[in-house]
Amino acid sequence: MIRVDQAGEYGATRIYAGQLAVLRANCPEAKLIARMARQEERHLARFNALMASRRVRPTALQPLWNVAGFALGAATALMSEEAALACTDAIETEIDKHYGSQLDALGSDDPELSSDIAEFRAEELEHRDTARSAGATNAPAYPLLTAAIRAGCRMAIGLSKRI
Ligand SMILES: [Fe+2]
Ligand SMILES: [Fe+2]
Repeated sequence: MIRVDQAGEYGATRIYAGQLAVLRANCPEAKLIARMARQEERHLARFNALMASRRVRPTALQPLWNVAGFALGAATALMSEEAALACTDAIETEIDKHYGSQLDALGSDDPELSSDIAEFRAEELEHRDTARSAGATNAPAYPLLTAAIRAGCRMAIGLSKRI
C-alpha cells in the first residue's frame, strides 16, 4: 500500500509540475494548482517517511512516473486551463476510490497509516471539487478526456502495486 501510494503522490507532484511549467504563473488556475501541488508535496513527504521507517521498496517505475506525470500535466495544460483542471478532476476521482478501498482493507489493523490515508483522501476530494467548481467540466471533450485519464490512472495504480 505504501509503495503504490508513494508512487501516486509522486506522480501527482509531477503532473502539477508539468502544468505549472506551461500555465501563465499569474492566471487563476495556476494559483489553484500551485496550492494543490504544495499539498501533494506534503503527502509525498509523508509516504517517503513511511517508506523509510517501514523499509518499503519504492516502485521500480518511478522514472516512468516522473516523465509520464510531467507529460500528462504539460499536455493537459497546453490544451486549456479547463483541461488542466479536468486532469485533476479525473485523477482525484480515481484516488478517492483507491484510498477508500485501502481504508476498507486496513480496517483497524494500522491506525497510523489509516489516519494519514483518511486525511489525504479528504484533501484529494477537495482538489476534485476545487477543479470542478473552477471549470473542469467546461473542458473540451470533458467526458472523453476524463475517462482516458482515469483509465491511465487505474493502469498506473495497477502497475505500481506489482512492480
Ligand atoms: Fe495527494
Ligand atoms: Fe491531490
